[in-house]
Amino acid sequence: MTTALITLPEAVLDGRTSVEWALYHRRSLREFSADTLPLATLGQLLWAAQGVTALGGYRTAPSAGALFPLELYAAVGQVHGLPPGLYHYQPREHALRRTSAHDPRRDLGAAALGQTWLQHAPAVLVLTGVVERVATKYGLPQGQRFMCMETGHAAQNIALQATALGLGSVVVAAFDAERLRQILKLTPGEEPLALLTLGKP
Ligand SMILES: Cc1cc2nc3c(=O)[nH]c(=O)nc-3n(C[C@H](O)[C@H](O)[C@H](O)COP(=O)(O)O)c2cc1C
Repeated sequence: MTTALITLPEAVLDGRTSVEWALYHRRSLREFSADTLPLATLGQLLWAAQGVTALGGYRTAPSAGALFPLELYAAVGQVHGLPPGLYHYQPREHALRRTSAHDPRRDLGAAALGQTWLQHAPAVLVLTGVVERVATKYGLPQGQRFMCMETGHAAQNIALQATALGLGSVVVAAFDAERLRQILKLTPGEEPLALLTLGKP
């Protein structure tokens, strides 16, 4: 399914919340209000995870050798202006491309070893990675280790940005990777690394 690029609102660079405040108040959230998320909020969270911030494609999160193994998806249920479905973030364009019209949140919850509360988050971000991008330079298992570290960096960026926006999130990594691979229709070589739920408390 090849769809048009959906340009996201430009990321805000001067929010009022300090990093310290966000660090102090960040807490895992597993119950969400039914509020629909603004598109700008989703865009801001995607940018916090993997947005491009400098020439050469450098991003908000560090990357070993600037090889950028991570890919980022949004499973959308209730976001203003976005029909439900699965979307692939395009960092360079700060845009989304819809890869499926099926809202996969319920399936994601089932694949996350029955963590069904997950489906009630208005949106769930999915971090995946292509280890070959780093392994060609660093080999294995070093490349795998680096990719997992990058997942942590991106996940923490999302958690802090969510807190700063008055939202909650939780990183979910207990899942059946093979099942997730099928739900997301990942190409061989791309592996699921983390789910991050997003929503208002
Ligand atoms: C690698 C990793 C995997 C996690 N997987 C899950 C998960 O599958 N389900 C879940 O509800 N929480 C998961 N968590 C969240 C932890 O349960 C949570 O961070 C911990 O209870 C501490 O609470 P806090 O995040 O509010 O400080 C995970 C956290 C990490 C770092």
